[in-house]
Amino acid sequence: MKKKLVIANWKMNPVKLADAKKVLTGTLKEVAGVKAVQVVVCPPTVFLPELSKAVKGAGAPRLCVQDLFHEGSGAYTGQTSPQMAKQFKATWAILGHSERRERGEDNETVGRKVRYAIAEGYTAVLCIGERERNEEGAHYTFVRDELEAVFAGLKRKDLEKLVIAYEPVWAIGKRAEEAMQTHELYEMALFIKKLLIERYGRKPAEQVSVLYGGSVKPENAEQIVREGGVDGLLVGSASLDPKQYGEIVRAVQTVAQAQV
Ligand code: 13P
Repeated sequence: MKKKLVIANWKMNPVKLADAKKVLTGTLKEVAGVKAVQVVVCPPTVFLPELSKAVKGAGAPRLCVQDLFHEGSGAYTGQTSPQMAKQFKATWAILGHSERRERGEDNETVGRKVRYAIAEGYTAVLCIGERERNEEGAHYTFVRDELEAVFAGLKRKDLEKLVIAYEPVWAIGKRAEEAMQTHELYEMALFIKKLLIERYGRKPAEQVSVLYGGSVKPENAEQIVREGGVDGLLVGSASLDPKQYGEIVRAVQTVAQAQV
């Protein structure tokens, strides 16, 4: 069975390097000894050179960036290339987060970024998710279109390095009670897995972890993973509090151990 994943997306927080160091130190302490869950931490890219010094050892959390460009170098003002970030131990990349798509990133660009990051050895965490839901189920078409735009350029082999994070935009940044209902999540997780199987076959498709993100907190994490049919979580605001994040990681570990 695949290892469950819990990814911390700090987004554009905290502002000060000293505070980022505190969050990382606290997080490392909280997750020390956790073996059944792969912990991944995505701080702001500008802090990576300093933070990466504290992340050592084979069992340590993986470092992740919140975006990467689809070229190695050149006249691309403001972008970060995979080759740059990898010097600071970044081996994972969140790509196509809804907060970037809202500012103009389209499916084609996300697809190019995913392909390039994987070619450069990264594990790509592809974010998808509808803005809203309606009775007609338009969210299924929306999610399928987002996925197919990326699948168009991906080979079977690339699936070894692909993670899909389903983050319905309407469920992001809310209280625990407003996270997605687990029976609805179960259906969507199944739908995503079915699309993968149809396109690539069962074995390659099964390598892909499907995560949920959107108002994950200590109080709902265990239920989401146990009942939602997902392989882990992408955590936003709660990941900035090492105690809360630690509780979430341990909750997922409990589910992982029960499923062995
Ligand atoms: P919240 O956990 O703050 O809702 O954020 C979810 C998210 O966007 C993670 O990428």
